[in-house]
Amino acid sequence: MIRICIILAVFFLLLAPAEIAAAADIEKGREIARQHCARCHVIGDHNRMGGIGSTPSFPLLRKMQDWRERFGTFYNRRPHPVHVRVEGVRRWTDLPPNAEPFTITQGNVEDILAFVETLAEGS
Ligand code: HEC
Repeated sequence: MIRICIILAVFFLLLAPAEIAAAADIEKGREIARQHCARCHVIGDHNRMGGIGSTPSFPLLRKMQDWRERFGTFYNRRPHPVHVRVEGVRRWTDLPPNAEPFTITQGNVEDILAFVETLAEGS
C-alpha cells in the first residue's frame, strides 16, 4: 500500500509541472497582447514605435525583478480595473470605462505571462 502511495505521489509530482507548462500558451498570450494591450503599451517588435508615450513598454516592465507579480495582477492595478474584466474576478470599481473594455479569462493571464517571459531581458 505504501509503495503504491509513493508511486502515485511521484507520478503526480512529475505530472504537475508539465501540466502547468502546457496550460499557458505563448502564442495565445502574444495574440491577446496584440489585440488588447498594444493599444496603449509597446509590447515588443510588433509595435516598437506604437503605444502611448506615458505607458510603460512590456520589454521595460519585463526587466523589473517583480515583473511576474505585476503582470499576474495587472487587471487589479490602475488604470486597468475600469476597462479590463477577468472572468470570475470581482472588479473593485464600478466606474465607467474610459477606454474600450475587454474580457479575458484567468487562463489568459497565464498566457500573457508566458508571452512576456519570452521578451528577453536586455532587449
Ligand atoms: C487603455 C490603455 C491600456 C491598456 C489597453 C492596457 N494598459 Fe497596461 N497600463 C496602462 C498604463 C497607463 C499603465 C501605467 C500605470 C501607472 O504607471 O500607474 C499601465 C501599466 C501596466 C503594467 C504595470 C503595472 C504596475 O503597477 O507596475 C502592466 C503589467 C500592464 N499595464 C499590463 C497590461 C496588459 C497585460 C494589458 C493587456 C491585456 C494592458 N496592460 C492593457 C494602460 C493600458
